[in-house]
Parts: sequence; C-alpha cells; structure tokens
Amino acid sequence: MSELANIAQAIVASGKGILAADESAPTIKKRFDSIQTESTEGNRLSYREMLFTTEGAEEFISGVILFDETIRQKTSSGIAIPELLTSKGILPGIKVDKGAKALPLADGEKVTEGLDGLRERIAEYRQLGARFAKWRAVITIGDSIPSDGCIRANAHALARYAALCIEGDLVPIVEPEVLMDGSHTIERCDEVTERTLAAVFAELREQRVPLNEIILKPNMVLSGSTCPTQASVREVAEATLACFRKTVPDEMPGIVFLSGGQSDELATAHLNEMNKLGGAPWQLSFSYGRALQAAPLKAWAGNAANRPAGQKAYLHRARCNGAARSGSYTEAMESGA
Ligand code: 13P
Repeated sequence: MSELANIAQAIVASGKGILAADESAPTIKKRFDSIQTESTEGNRLSYREMLFTTEGAEEFISGVILFDETIRQKTSSGIAIPELLTSKGILPGIKVDKGAKALPLADGEKVTEGLDGLRERIAEYRQLGARFAKWRAVITIGDSIPSDGCIRANAHALARYAALCIEGDLVPIVEPEVLMDGSHTIERCDEVTERTLAAVFAELREQRVPLNEIILKPNMVLSGSTCPTQASVREVAEATLACFRKTVPDEMPGIVFLSGGQSDELATAHLNEMNKLGGAPWQLSFSYGRALQAAPLKAWAGNAANRPAGQKAYLHRARCNGAARSGSYTEAMESGA
C-alpha cells in the first residue's frame, strides 16, 4: 500500500476519528464571543493547547485539523504544535482552503477559494509536519438552489485541491458540506447530497485522484434545522447510508462526518446508529468541530483554572464518539460524564 493510503487508513483506524480544530480567525472569534473571551493569539493557543494536551484523547483521536496560525505555534513549554500531536501518535492536519466566497452571478451560493499558490503552501505545510489537509465546500439549500453551476464549480475546486495534495504528499480530506440550515425536508437534503457527491466523484475521477488515498468528509442526510418534522436517529442513519451507497465508490477507505451544527449528543447518536446498522464498505467515522468542542469550550470559559474541567469534557465527548465508531455508544455513557 502507498504511504498516503496508509495514512488514510490510520485516520479512520477503528475506534478513532478526527478533532476539527481549524476554525478560521472569524469563526474562533464567534466561538470565544459565546464565552465572553477575547480572541487573542494567546487565548487561542491556551484553548487549543488545553485540547491537544488532554491525556488519553489519543485513544479516540487519530488526527487533528489545524488552522494556519496554530500549525506555526509552540506550546507554553516550547514544543511545536505538530510535534506535540505527533509525539502522542496523532496525525497533524491543516485547513488549506481560503474560505467560501460569494459565487458571482449566483444569488445566495458560494464557492470555496484558495487554489492559487496552493502547491507551494502544501509544500510548506508538509515541511511543518502536516500529513493530511482539508478543503471545505459549502452547498446551501434554498427554493431554487443549489444550481448545477454551483455544485460543479465546488466539485471542480475540490478535485483540483485533492490532486495537488496527492502530488504534494498530503492525504486530502474532501469536504462537500450541504448545510443543514433551512426548513427543507430530509428528502430534499438527500437529493442535494446525492447530486453533490455524484459531481464530486466525477471530478475526482476526471482529475485522476486515487480514491484509496483520500478521505470524504460529508454532511449526514438530515432534516433541515427548522423543518417542522425532524427525522429520527434511525431514519437519518438509514437515509445517510443509502445515499452514500449510491454515490461513494467502495475503494474509498473512509467517511468522516462533520457535525454541522447538530447537538453534540445527536451527532454521536447518528454516527453510532450507522455503525450499528453496519455493512458499509467504508469506515464510518467523525471529524467533528462543534460536536467535540462545545462542551470543553463552555467548561473552560477562558479561565486557566478550568483547564482540567475543559479536558474532562473533551475526553468525554472523544470517548463517546470513539464508542460510536463501533455502535457501542449508549445514553448511559452521558450520565457518567
Ligand atoms: P463541525 O463539526 O462543527 O461542522 O466542523 C467540522 C468542520 O471541520 C467544518 O469544516
């Protein structure tokens, strides 16, 4: 097996998944605003260092996605962040896209930028210790969107990015996120997710991306967040697996779901249910941002004295999601928190 295929397998090793800690400057500011904490470089480092030094998290966490600022930072004891993670057996990853921008002439739709100069940035990140990368495309559901043009533009950029990663020795995490925002039904989410994934895999093939060396990071098939009827955990698990069976080739090593604004417990329950149903040709794992961080962020609240509480909350969510990897998560695990 190639080195990249091995890394892709390690990312989705059994019982483990990814911590997405790659919030851009505006996003981490939003998170810190929620705990009345100023988003300074020092506070961002303290918070992320708290997460990354949590003892035992490596049992459930195979990789961490970093933001550009973080991959260059050192801990308070002078260890470079990628080195800290590597010393725990955790793979450092890096967000390489430059964010979703308005797609011209397309009301309400977005396209992710960041391809210019990406070859050189990948080389630098590889040097800094990254072993995998992430690029997020955003697809919005509305009355007459997404358009085929928007889906295709995003799929094309994802495939260009993935090919550059393979060439530059990083495993690409390919993230086409169909947003859960809106009052649409689960059927509508299913239809848009299927269209999006079909376009992404068509572009990946056209651009010669070896599918055994990439990881897919998609949304689950869910009811819109303000849809009056919310699908059950079982319905979400079944709809998601059925949609992916139609569109995702078997040679892909694994799917790591994003949480996308689901509550942390629901994100865990959905993943658990999919693994309980079983029979999928790919590993079904997690790459959660909010669903792993909401609890530790709140427990920490910007106060160094709360570090142990923050680490405990993070380890608890990591353990629950680790259990969901094999369908062995139970609600009883939450009361033991
Ligand atoms: P959420 O799990 O909070 O959606 O974040 C995952 C992520 O990396 C989004 O790009």
